[in-house]
Amino acid sequence: YVEKTLAIIKPDAIHKCDEIEDIILRSGFCILQKRRVHLTPEQASDFYAEHYGKLFFPSLVAYMSSGPIIVLVLSRDNAISYWRELVGPTNTLKARETHPDSLRAIYGTDDQRNALHGSDSFSNAAREIRFFFSDSIVEPVAVGQ
Ligand code: CMP
Repeated sequence: YVEKTLAIIKPDAIHKCDEIEDIILRSGFCILQKRRVHLTPEQASDFYAEHYGKLFFPSLVAYMSSGPIIVLVLSRDNAISYWRELVGPTNTLKARETHPDSLRAIYGTDDQRNALHGSDSFSNAAREIRFFFSDSIVEPVAVGQ
């Protein structure tokens, strides 16, 4: 069924955002919402709260607040898993080995600066869409369930 997911074009890939948006549209997604934002470190910490306490958390927060990002709400059949498939493995270097056609393999930099984000579950998609688009009139969760 048709779902929504949250995608982020991260600071290391923002200079390729037009190219990435073309690929998104050619992959059958609709772009329902789009925002360009520059997160503060506090906002980046909130967004990634589930990773609080991990070794990479401070540098993740610094990276995600280092420059503007593009935040997109995408929809299509099976959007959550389809987008994660297209994005590829978290670690860019691994993505280049095992999923060379994935977006992270193409646009990522290293194990942290991996160009793109995608929600990993239905409940996280709803939370992440609300995080960036809480004032939106578009319902954050899928219809027809
Ligand atoms: P993302 O899918 O946005 O979710 C959490 C982010 O933390 C991830 O992409 C990476 O940018 C970063 N990350 C995850 N694991 C590591 C790691 N082992 N070392 C450094 N950064 C990581």
